[in-house]
Formats: sequence, C-alpha cells, structure tokens
Amino acid sequence: MNIKSLKCVIGILTAVLLTFCAAASGSDFSSNGNDRKGKYIYRKNCRVCHDGSSASTLSPNSKTQAQWTRTFERHERLACADEWNNQSPAELNDVFSYLYVHAYDSVQPASCK
Ligand code: HEC
Repeated sequence: MNIKSLKCVIGILTAVLLTFCAAASGSDFSSNGNDRKGKYIYRKNCRVCHDGSSASTLSPNSKTQAQWTRTFERHERLACADEWNNQSPAELNDVFSYLYVHAYDSVQPASCK
C-alpha cells in the first residue's frame, strides 16, 4: 500500500469514528415528551425508592434543567440503572420532560410530594 492510499484509509477511519462518537454522545432526551404521563411514571416507578426510604428524596426541583439533562445522559452510571432499563425510551423521555419542565430553575418548579 502506498502512502497516498494509506492516508485515504486513515481519513475514512477517522470519519467513521467521528460519526460514531457524535451519535453516541448526542442526547436521547428532549423536554417535548408528555410531562403529565412522566409524572405518573415517576410516581409509580421511581418514587417508590426515591422518597427517602431506600434512596435519596428526589423531586423535579432537586436539580436544575442542566443537571437533569446531564443526569439523563449519563443514567447508565447510576446505582439504579437497571430500574431505568425497565422503562421504555418513550417512558423515560416522559419522565425527563416532567423533571425538566418543573426543575429548580424552570418557570414552574415543583416538588412531587
Ligand atoms: C429499587 C429502588 C430504586 C428505583 C425504583 C429507582 N431508583 Fe434511582 N437510585 C436508587 C439508589 C439506591 C440510588 C443511589 C443512592 C441515592 O442516590 O440515593 C439511586 C440514584 C439515583 C439518582 C442519582 C442521585 C442524585 O441525587 O442525582 C437519580 C437521578 C435517580 N436515582 C433517578 C431515578 C429515576 C428517574 C428512577 C425511575 C426511572 C429511579 N431512580 C428508580 C434506587 C432506585
């Protein structure tokens, strides 16, 4: 293989890698889900632990919108990642919408008590 075609192969590999990284790091969540449904799902499937019994108390106003975005992007690292995987992507997006729309720095911050 000559230098020119080697450079070409490296170029293609870099492009493929960059595309892959961009896709992997993009956020899967947006706040245009159904926040009312999200509230219901959160109460049913998250608050069972996150009411201060077996895990920390969590409400929409526990975090800012930026913090919720970060938390959802990295949810695989949480202690309860398995619980998240029991929800469908659409359900998680609804939960995200509920938490985000009522976050600490939102126009209508809410606790879920
Ligand atoms: C079986 C119990 C259980 C369920 C159900 C559960 N979690 Fe958790 N979660 C935990 C535990 C335990 C931790 C780690 C200790 C802590 O932070 O309280 C944790 C940690 C977290 C954290 C990080 C703590 C923080 O303050 O940032 C977030 C966010 C979270 N869970 C969100 C959720 C969401 C959203 C759901 C519903 C999809 C959920 N959890 C369902 C037990 C649970």
